[in-house]
Amino acid sequence: MSSNLTAPTILQTSNLKSQNNNPIPGINSVAAGSQPDLIVELHSILEPIDLTALFPIGRPLEVELGCGDASFLVNDATLHPDRNFIGVERLLGRLRKLDRKGRRAGLVNLRGVRIESSYFLKYLLPPHSTAALHLYFPDPWPKRKHWKKRLVNERFPEITLRALAPDGVLYLRTDDRNYFEQMREVFAAHAAFRPVETPADLAGLLTDFEREFQKRGVQTLRAAYRRE
Ligand SMILES: C[S@@+](CC[C@H](N)C(=O)[O-])C[C@H]1O[C@@H](n2cnc3c(N)ncnc32)[C@H](O)[C@@H]1O
Repeated sequence: MSSNLTAPTILQTSNLKSQNNNPIPGINSVAAGSQPDLIVELHSILEPIDLTALFPIGRPLEVELGCGDASFLVNDATLHPDRNFIGVERLLGRLRKLDRKGRRAGLVNLRGVRIESSYFLKYLLPPHSTAALHLYFPDPWPKRKHWKKRLVNERFPEITLRALAPDGVLYLRTDDRNYFEQMREVFAAHAAFRPVETPADLAGLLTDFEREFQKRGVQTLRAAYRRE
């Protein structure tokens, strides 16, 4: 792996401002130049990202939404040097963990983007670019009055469809049974998706939250949907 190490591409955003001329939170609130290497600075939130500028070699793309401390993603990217990986996360502190772990592992096939997941899917991922989307333990919002804040809702299959390549797969995991039922309902209602099994090797790659749930004996649930 180390033989094909190259300097990661950093996209400059120093002039990016919101309409009221303030930095756009989560996009350029960290000064240009201070970003660690694997964290991508977006130069536009209006244009899809240029994947060729992000990765030295074009390969099938996998994206994890809400990647947390990136322990899953770093393991997956290490095991699959023939694929490219993007972690999407709104918290900079967690994205810095992706950066630290990814660089320590010498990964050139991993990048992190600090932005809201559904915005990234809708507007920034090039359409039909993604072979696999991973969404693991998204915030469950257990109170009924908060369900509207859940990432997986009746609009989510459509934005997933836009991002996925033909035959692309969305992988879901949660510990929240009610949210799991909602996930199954919204995908069952969408003709473009077919439920599939999560491969055993992928299921064996645990996320940070999943390890915690297992330690505490909390049951976790899995589903996957292939784009027809
Ligand atoms: C419960 S944690 C799970 C983290 C990781 N997937 C795991 O299983 O260990 C949810 C993560 O998603 C991030 N997150 C929540 N909503 C998000 C959103 N709309 N866009 C981007 N990140 C989000 C949170 O900051 C947090 O790191």
